[in-house]
Amino acid sequence: MKVEKEQALQQIHQQRFGKAGAIFAAPARVNLIGEHTDYTGGFVMPMAIDFHTVAVVSAREDGRAVFYSGNYDEEVSVKIDSLGQSPSGGWNDYPTGVLWSLRKEGVDVGGFNLSLAGDVPLGSGLSSSASVEVATAMALLGHAKAELPLEKVATLCRRAENDYVGAKSGIMDQFAVAGCVANRAMLLDCRSLEYELLPLPDQVRVVICNSMVKHAVATGEYGDRSSEVEAGQAVLQRERPGVKLLRDATLQDLEACRDLMSSASFKRCRHIITENARVVKARAALLQGDLERFGALLVEAHASFRDDFAASCEEVDVLVAIAMQQEECFGARITGGGFGGCSVNVVREEAAEQFVATVRREYAAKTGIEADCFVCTPADGAFALARKGGVA
Ligand code: GLA
Repeated sequence: MKVEKEQALQQIHQQRFGKAGAIFAAPARVNLIGEHTDYTGGFVMPMAIDFHTVAVVSAREDGRAVFYSGNYDEEVSVKIDSLGQSPSGGWNDYPTGVLWSLRKEGVDVGGFNLSLAGDVPLGSGLSSSASVEVATAMALLGHAKAELPLEKVATLCRRAENDYVGAKSGIMDQFAVAGCVANRAMLLDCRSLEYELLPLPDQVRVVICNSMVKHAVATGEYGDRSSEVEAGQAVLQRERPGVKLLRDATLQDLEACRDLMSSASFKRCRHIITENARVVKARAALLQGDLERFGALLVEAHASFRDDFAASCEEVDVLVAIAMQQEECFGARITGGGFGGCSVNVVREEAAEQFVATVRREYAAKTGIEADCFVCTPADGAFALARKGGVA
């Protein structure tokens, strides 16, 4: 599948720029558990999925960066030497931001044509922006004949999103999209950036159900939640000497500071403290092959995200409720930044197609909306794809 996407973009690139280029790709990701924990140094458990942004890059001699988006059928050109921190509000802020961030990192990027095209559903909590950022970074590093380690690539892509595009986000998406590998979920410690690759038992499939309610990290709600979290964290840092990041706080620490923070901050922090603990338990459950336990933790995580974090939405709650009535489903929850997007469901392999049919039917009956559903297996991240020679 990916080979076709790559060849199709190569052809377009060749027609537009008169020469073939080098091909790179980055996948999308789904987060199994650990939501809104990343920007306070906590734990997350994402895996890469089989949607991709493909990037084709070739050199040009005039010192310009020319970006072409196959999705928008639009071309944008900037002069690399005079590139400042000046986002335009358009799609090209993501790749341009990565160029800006690479230059800040000291990477010398000469003139290039970069074509991008992707099939990652937009605004669905599956990291379409990180996919574009990481595909761009891999392509421009290849073009500059430079190599950077995974942590650096993830961090500079996050900086592009935070400081150039102007969207708050943690490190999870960029790290997962760059560093995941096939058939494994990733347990990432967002403080140390150490990670572990965990097996997903063969007898399950991860099913993603898109509520079709769109959200964007760049709009206010994600920022409201992260501000509430950061305000709570600041109180804990001030009052509890051992707490450097919210990750270090216990529920007792939080309780002791209850009257010093807004009730919103208290609840948001409670979600994060309990969520970090759930990720650690989910890791143990996976290693023991205990899918019942793993699924139960997903369901708890959903309730905490809905009630304490107040970032679910009615439609995704409906998807999760339908899923949990199906015997073949071990667990389900909302995934991603919240306020719409997708549910992630862990389902018995042999019943996955049946599960999809039931969820689609019942969701349409309850909401009038046709959900897109995908049966996924963990895919390779951009580094693994590049190691395998780009074209898988
Ligand atoms: C978005 C952000 C991530 C993370 C999730 C919530 O995807 O980009 O950094 O905070 O939301 O877990």
